[in-house]
Amino acid sequence: MRKLTAGLFMAAAMMTATVASAADPIVVKFSHVVAENTPKGQLANKFRDLVNERLAGKVLVEVYPSSQLYGDNKVLEAMLLGDVQIAGPSLSKFSKYTKKLQVFDLPFLFKDLAAVDKFQQGPVGQKLLMSMKKKGIIGLGYNHGGMKQLSANKPLRTPADAEGLKFRIMTSDILSAQFEAVGATPLKKPFSEVFTLLQTKAIDGQENHWPNIYSKKFFEVQDYVTQSDHGVLDYLIVTSTEFWDSLPDDIRTEMKKAMDEAIAFGNKVAYDQAIEVRKKVEASGRTKVIDLTPEERAQWVEAMKPVWAKFEGEIGKDIIDAAVASNM
Ligand code: LMR
Repeated sequence: MRKLTAGLFMAAAMMTATVASAADPIVVKFSHVVAENTPKGQLANKFRDLVNERLAGKVLVEVYPSSQLYGDNKVLEAMLLGDVQIAGPSLSKFSKYTKKLQVFDLPFLFKDLAAVDKFQQGPVGQKLLMSMKKKGIIGLGYNHGGMKQLSANKPLRTPADAEGLKFRIMTSDILSAQFEAVGATPLKKPFSEVFTLLQTKAIDGQENHWPNIYSKKFFEVQDYVTQSDHGVLDYLIVTSTEFWDSLPDDIRTEMKKAMDEAIAFGNKVAYDQAIEVRKKVEASGRTKVIDLTPEERAQWVEAMKPVWAKFEGEIGKDIIDAAVASNM
């Protein structure tokens, strides 16, 4: 009897172990490059909190900010290999997988974030979410970072002021062409290196949205920031088809719902920070913020807009036209 009890006990213990491992939560690593107090950083943390509460014990989301795990140039490969499950690179960093998303890099295409919203939520924007499906990447939604501003160690009021300067850019041929159009030298560098490049004066300037200029302290090593709003720096929150399809239906549905809520939250942060953060930068007294007159802005438009024609073939005229129409 004792033997039998011991045997039963062992069998029960083994069963418990099996059940415990079968019930281990699905670990979801969300890797990004920005600070936690930015729109994307806030989105990631919100997603983590919602999922970890609603799917407690079933899914465990871990967020790795500030390039702790991967830089944006490596994260997509890591995601396709299954080392990361969710990422949110800027829309400028997908050209290896699709040329269509390059539309977001065209200078002076969107007049403001509301126009970007309209395009992203419209039929063409929604179709673009799946433009990399054949490559194993699914877009779960767009997240606003904000409109881009120019910073440098000299005042940039007209395109002539940028001539001969070195600007760090993201890995985008359109951004390269955009700076070449004003006689500047573009350098493709990872986000994690921008502060040091500016601090050591290896580069003269950069373009980014206010939340990044503030949270990564670029304004402390740049004498001027021009509110140029010359382009948009938004994100595509992505996962791999393999991972997404492997999820049980109920979990996938719940995670998508949490992502939609987190995106709405992150987008609100982007709208708010575009105004608040500029004020904080100005109040710091560490840099001077320049507003362009309509005449000065028109010169930038004239210099940079010819870039559109060069990329129309790669992106598709229908996509560009739909983006233009979102300004009305
Ligand atoms: C950059 O590289 O400047 C940005 O894309 C970083 C980011 O993700 O906001």
